[in-house]
Amino acid sequence: MIKYVSRIFINNLLNQVDIVKLIIDKIKLKKKGKNFFGICPFHIEKNPSFVVNSERQLYHCFGCGAHGNIIDFIINYENLSFLESIKLLSNIFNIPIEDNNKSFLFRKRIKDNIYYQLMFNLSFFYKNYLFKSLGKTALKYLLNRGFNLYIIKYFSIGFSPLYWANKRFRNTKNIEILHKKLKILKLNKHNHNYYDIFYNRIIFPIKNIHGFIVGFGGRVFDNKEPKYLNSSENNIFYKSNELYGLFEIKKENNILKKIIVVEGYIDVISLFQFNIKYAVAILGTVITSVHIKKLFNITNNIIYCFDGDQAGIEAQWNSLKKSLPFLVKGKQIFFMILPKGEDPDSLIRKEGKNLFEKRINNTLSFSHFFFKTLFLKNLFSSCEEKTNFIYKALSFIKLIPDNFFQINLIQKLGEKIGILNFLDIYNFLYNQKETIINNSFKKTTVRRLLSLLIQNPKLIKLVPKFKYFKNSNINGLFFFIKFVNFYKNKHITTAEILKQYKGTKLNKIIKMLITWDHMIPDHQIKTFFIYLINKLKINILENRQDYLISLDRKQGLSNEKKKELWSLNKILIKKKNNLKI
Ligand code: UTP
Ligand code: MN
Repeated sequence: MIKYVSRIFINNLLNQVDIVKLIIDKIKLKKKGKNFFGICPFHIEKNPSFVVNSERQLYHCFGCGAHGNIIDFIINYENLSFLESIKLLSNIFNIPIEDNNKSFLFRKRIKDNIYYQLMFNLSFFYKNYLFKSLGKTALKYLLNRGFNLYIIKYFSIGFSPLYWANKRFRNTKNIEILHKKLKILKLNKHNHNYYDIFYNRIIFPIKNIHGFIVGFGGRVFDNKEPKYLNSSENNIFYKSNELYGLFEIKKENNILKKIIVVEGYIDVISLFQFNIKYAVAILGTVITSVHIKKLFNITNNIIYCFDGDQAGIEAQWNSLKKSLPFLVKGKQIFFMILPKGEDPDSLIRKEGKNLFEKRINNTLSFSHFFFKTLFLKNLFSSCEEKTNFIYKALSFIKLIPDNFFQINLIQKLGEKIGILNFLDIYNFLYNQKETIINNSFKKTTVRRLLSLLIQNPKLIKLVPKFKYFKNSNINGLFFFIKFVNFYKNKHITTAEILKQYKGTKLNKIIKMLITWDHMIPDHQIKTFFIYLINKLKINILENRQDYLISLDRKQGLSNEKKKELWSLNKILIKKKNNLKI
């Protein structure tokens, strides 16, 4: 029996479940805009006054005032306790509950752990020194850089004075641990004194996700090198597992809609001071799978934000590659490219919060950054290079677990390399069941023509003016003619056509037309197109013929119409005879 569920788990659960999905199984709901309406289950009523909002993941009844999130709903609807409700939800949505007895004991155990205690004490010592006379220059440096006292204390920033270790920790067990295990003290071989590797540096304590200090970063405040020193790895600190600021931003936010990943300690603290409380920093290393897993456990959206120089772009690309296996449905990554020479700290101080947040909201999507960088990295002029390029692009795309995202990326890749039916080819080659064009899609002459036209916009010149189309009832013909008239003489590309229909009702069908594989070799497309045009002409004339014949039956034909029908018959025979590919 579970006795305790962590807040982290509950946040995680709330992030993954969907209130509409749950309630719609129990109550008939009708969608109106972003809301779903139904009869309230908590009081007797005839007209629906119960609303479920999918965006905010809340329900509300205007009749009885019942209100809450998905957990409240279960508590009240199923008459269960809080923990029972959590359990039920985790069952329904298949999100296993962590064994919290274990994690509770784990927390207790590590709290008792001497290493953590030592780190905590050391940090306390550093913190105090920042406000003593020895720390004056360091504090002044921080204040000059624009940090306020509140933020300095919030992040427990400190200062390590010179050679303190001699005085305080000599000959104790602690000094052994600080020396041998935590590697913060070093022995001076000449005078056999211990010294702090961070001496004369500003200290940034690094906390793990539970808030325990596991390491330190130390910055000089003059121009000495190296600028930063970081704790070396030990029993409690693995650089590639930790993210600076993670504990703090989790403490500040119940739900993290997005998290920005930056490079430096200073960047996290600056952003935080400017009220952007959702940034974490990697610790002078590359991003790792552990980092990404940790982040995706508490958010759906990661924004990678590295400096705008070449190294930064490389780091972004590296982060992209590392993230691919974690892009399941609902999880997304974005890329924020900063102007050259700026980092988040310098930029937010220059621009302020609002402009910086605008940048955050205008980040590049995965697909945008992916193709942009891929094309920058790979030039292809020859057939061989193009083939290699395709394999390379596919090797990345294939790592993505979200199938629909994969399909869309493959289709986009096709557009980018000028093979418009690429997805079909891919599906054919890799024998995938999912094809974009389903079988109920009727392959009429008009649709074929339209499809060829969209795939090869240059063909538009070959479309003639049609006679008799006005009274015709051929499906899609009007649209086709309107389409041709609109794009004629406009030198339009496929991508532009697609863009113009984006978000319209026709978007889906345009996409189908684009990906339709006509199975014709490139050099025969034109001939085939002309053939289809002639076929369409015949269809139109036949349509006119049918119309005249039925008119004849109903009311008889005027002389003029009789002549027309007669000549139509002749023309049709001739045209049909001439029709060939
Ligand atoms: P930066 O050189 O970009 O420093 O290093 P910064 O964060 O902008 O700091 P300021 O503004 O100069 O004070 C980014 C991160 O890389 C790691 C640190 O974690 C740092 O926060 N780093 C940098 C090191 O580990 N060692 C170094 O010598 C330099
Ligand atoms: Mn900086």
